[in-house]
Amino acid sequence: MTRVALAFSGGLDTTVCVPLLEEEYGYDDVIGVTVDVGQPAEEFDEAEETAEALGLEHYVVDAREEFAQLCLESVRANATYQGYPLGTALARPVIAEAILEVAEEQDCDALAHGCTGKGNDQLRFEAVWRDTDLDVYAPVRELGLTREWEQEYAAEKDLPVEGGSGGDWSIDTNIWSRSIEGDDLEDPSYVPPTDIYEWTDEPTGETEEIEIAFENGYPVAVDGEKMDPVSLVEHLNEVAGAHGVGRTDTMEDRMLGLKVRENYEHPAATTLLNAHEALEGLVLTQEERQFKIQIDNQWSQKAYEGLIDAPLVDALEGFIDETQKRVTGTVTIRFEGGQARPVARDSEYAAYSAAHASFDTETVGKIKQEDATGVAKYHGFQRRLANKAIEKIDGDETVELATDGGNDADEE
Ligand code: ARG
Repeated sequence: MTRVALAFSGGLDTTVCVPLLEEEYGYDDVIGVTVDVGQPAEEFDEAEETAEALGLEHYVVDAREEFAQLCLESVRANATYQGYPLGTALARPVIAEAILEVAEEQDCDALAHGCTGKGNDQLRFEAVWRDTDLDVYAPVRELGLTREWEQEYAAEKDLPVEGGSGGDWSIDTNIWSRSIEGDDLEDPSYVPPTDIYEWTDEPTGETEEIEIAFENGYPVAVDGEKMDPVSLVEHLNEVAGAHGVGRTDTMEDRMLGLKVRENYEHPAATTLLNAHEALEGLVLTQEERQFKIQIDNQWSQKAYEGLIDAPLVDALEGFIDETQKRVTGTVTIRFEGGQARPVARDSEYAAYSAAHASFDTETVGKIKQEDATGVAKYHGFQRRLANKAIEKIDGDETVELATDGGNDADEE
C-alpha cells in the first residue's frame, strides 16, 4: 500500500491535492498534516472540517514552542529580509520537519505540498524533504494548476472549499508575522485598504512605555514579568499591535528572481528587534557592531532561503553566541505614532563610561581633554595628501583637455 503525507491547510490548493494525489499520482492513501505555528483558531477549524468532509486522515502537530524559540534566535541575529522579519520563512523548516516526522511514524513513502511554482515556500519545504529517501511531490506546480482550474475541479468533484473567495487576499499567519498578498495588492501602485490588517490598529495619538529584559540576547521578560517565548511574543503582538506598530509594505525579491509586492504585520517582531538592537548598541564595541551587520545579513539570507540548518548558519551563530554573552539588560520601548522606539537602555555590561563621554568632566583617570589634540592633528592625514594629489591631476587635465579639443577640431 502506498501512502503520502500532505502538508494540509484546508485551503483550496491543498484540498484539491487530496484527490489529485490519488487520481494522478496513484496513491492508495493520503494523510493530511497541519502544523501549528500560531495560526488563528479558525484556520484549524477549517482544516479539520475540510479533512472530515474529505474523509482525510488528519494530524495536527503543535510546533509553537519550537517555532517561537527560532523566532527569538532570529532576534539575536537582528534578522530581517528587505524589512520583513521572516515569519513565513522561519516557519517553513519547522513545518517541514514536523510533517516529515508524522510521515515517518505513519509509514508514508512520499511527501507532498500545495505550493505553486512561483513562491519561496516550495524551495523551503523541499530543502528539508529532499534530504530524505521519501518521494516529494508538488501537484500544483507539477500539473501546472491555476486557481481557476482548481475552483472548477473542486466544484466538479464537490470538494469542501469555501466558494466565492475571489476578492480575498492570500494570507499566511504565524506568531511572528502575518503576510497579506495577491489580488489588488499585486499592483504596486495600489494603496492597501486598512482592512487588510488584523493585528495592527491605526496608530492613535496615545503613547505607552514597556520595559523588555534580555538575557544573552534572548528577550525573557516584559515589565518585570518572566514569560516563555510563545507568551512573550503573543503578549507583544497584542500590546504593540494596539499602537499600530510593525507594518511593512515592500517590493520583495523572491528566490526565483521574481519581484512581488508584499504586505506584512509583525508588532512583536518589530518591538523585539528594535529593543535588541538598542541593547547591542550599549554593550557591543563599534567593530563588533559593524562586523555583526554582515553576520546578521548572512543569517537573514539563509533564513529567507529556508536553509537555517546550513553549516554557515552554525558558524555565524558561533559569532552571535560570543557577542550575545553581554547582551543582558533592559530596554524601554515607547509606542508612539505606529513606532516602537527605544527610549532607554541599561546593562551591567555596557561598553560605555558616562564619566569619559560627559561634557562636564575634564579629566577621568589618566585621560585628559587635551590628549585628543594629537589625534586631531593626524585625523584625515592621508586624505589631506591624496586630495592634494588629485588637485594636481585635475589641474593638468584641464590644460590637456583644452589642448586636445583644439587639435581634434583642427585635424577635421
Ligand atoms: N513572500 C513571503 C516569504 O517568502 C511570504 C509569503 C506568504 N504567503 C502568503 N500566502 N501570504 O517569506
